Amino acid sequence: MPITAHVARALGAALGYAPEHLPEIERALTEPPSLALGDLAFPCFQLARQLRAAPAKIAADLASRITADTLIERAVAQGPYVNLYLDRAAAARQVLGAIAGDPERYGSRNLGGGQVIVLDFSAPNIAKPFHFGHLRSTNIGADLARIFSFLGYRVVRKNYIGDWGTQFGFVIYAWQKWGDLHALRQRAIEYLVELYVRAYKESETDPGVREQARHLFLRLEQGDPDIAALWQQFRELSLAGFMRTYERLGIGFDSYEGEASVNHLVEAVIERFRRASVAVESEGALVVPVSDVLGRELAPMMLRKSDGASTYAARDCAEALDRFERYGFSANIYVVSRQEDHFAQVFAALGKLAEAEGWESRWPQTCENVSFGYVRGMSTRKGEAVWLEDVLDEARDRARRVREEKSAANPRAFPELPEEELERISESVGQAALLYFDVSSRRMSDITFDWDSVLQFEGNTGPYLQYCHARMCGIFRKAAAQGLATTGGPAPTPATLADEEWALVLVLRGFGAAVERAAEGREPHEISQYLHTLASAFNAFYNRHTVIDGAEPLTTGFRLELVGAAQAVLASGLRLLGIRSLELM
Ligand code: ARG
Repeated sequence: MPITAHVARALGAALGYAPEHLPEIERALTEPPSLALGDLAFPCFQLARQLRAAPAKIAADLASRITADTLIERAVAQGPYVNLYLDRAAAARQVLGAIAGDPERYGSRNLGGGQVIVLDFSAPNIAKPFHFGHLRSTNIGADLARIFSFLGYRVVRKNYIGDWGTQFGFVIYAWQKWGDLHALRQRAIEYLVELYVRAYKESETDPGVREQARHLFLRLEQGDPDIAALWQQFRELSLAGFMRTYERLGIGFDSYEGEASVNHLVEAVIERFRRASVAVESEGALVVPVSDVLGRELAPMMLRKSDGASTYAARDCAEALDRFERYGFSANIYVVSRQEDHFAQVFAALGKLAEAEGWESRWPQTCENVSFGYVRGMSTRKGEAVWLEDVLDEARDRARRVREEKSAANPRAFPELPEEELERISESVGQAALLYFDVSSRRMSDITFDWDSVLQFEGNTGPYLQYCHARMCGIFRKAAAQGLATTGGPAPTPATLADEEWALVLVLRGFGAAVERAAEGREPHEISQYLHTLASAFNAFYNRHTVIDGAEPLTTGFRLELVGAAQAVLASGLRLLGIRSLELM
């Protein structure tokens, strides 16, 4: 039984509560501001209101009725709170036992019970630049996918590639005029963007170009085989480029079907809107008047433009309906920034359609746009336009230089390593710097990117956490060299725990709760914050106590177990963030 459940049961018994009230008590438990004030606190305000008595009096009364047991050492009233002091050794046994029992799954829980969550993330565009927003979406989306899976949801990862739209008219126009097969094979997506930009520039001085581009896109929409073959080739080459990057990051998707894949569904969906009288004609276009959840009127959602072309919104409606039929999702989440209005329109329009068609289902309410803030200051050697591949290269090279400097200053901590090993480490550290940066603040905050600070080996960075992990592994290398047990497995617990040991145990206890907060708020930052706290608790412990040299054998055994548990949880949290743990740095 988790410690909080045990404590809730003791409080419930003292209050004479029935078992069904225990979860409520458990949820009310908080952490006192310092260890001196106890390990858990129960606030008595609500109880005091119900009983019409002063909270402090209730607390004093309740505290006196709690008896010590195997886990609870004592209960003390402090103002309106009952502070509970745990038997540190017994509680440590429980936490460390749970981690050792299943280090990789510790903190997970079957909250989802196999329900399906569709996650729409990354979704770069073909023939438009891959910008930093796509990197953040890729990263936050992949984190959420891992977090939901960890909690027992079945996650469908959708990469809804932007492979349709009028930009293709410009690209095809440019291709017919300047196309160079060699450049396309070499640089695929970057070359397509160049073509697009060149044609677009020309259209600014020569309006005829826009006309021709529109005409070419129309031919594509009508299925002209030559144009369709070109489009197919553009798509495939671009996707192959994206795939290399995803592979490098260890991110995969269940589907790469983009906007074009719903083309064959769009007409029927538009017809449904029309038949249900949800869509109306407006100046030659077909629109759905919509309002947001608070009933405020939004700009009407356009299904079809006056020139007959279907819209991005129409495709998203068709795609969402298709997803629901295919997966019966409990949530359909779009990790996309700065399209709040678009998604509000789409969700509202789907709601109107469901109502008009008389469905019982609440499913449009299960659609959700997870947005995020803006990133400033990101540029690479090649300039402002951000290609993920370049960013990863640069991160790797810079990580390598930082390590070289560290190694020159402190060769003991950063020994010489074979070239292959160094490459692997630099790649992992560079990625850790980027991936952690993205989640080092809450997702809605705007953040400023700075190469030097994200690559620091100390502070709130990914490399810092990797370094902590490597330090923990170093303790086990040292133990092995001295012939000590190195599994980090169960060891006898000393009768008392030092404050720093105890503080570390308490942090380890909180991992599952952090994962659940991350899932509930769609906020991977909860995990990064947790890991930072864990690393600090470990450092506070390790700076104060020796694990091996000069410690009693009993103490060494317990501390190795404690370090082993911290290492397992740190690795597990990093895994949820897509960051590789390193044994050596
Ligand atoms: N490709 C779009 C863009 O870059 C993002 C697509 C997001 N997903 C969606 N279902 N609309 O802006």
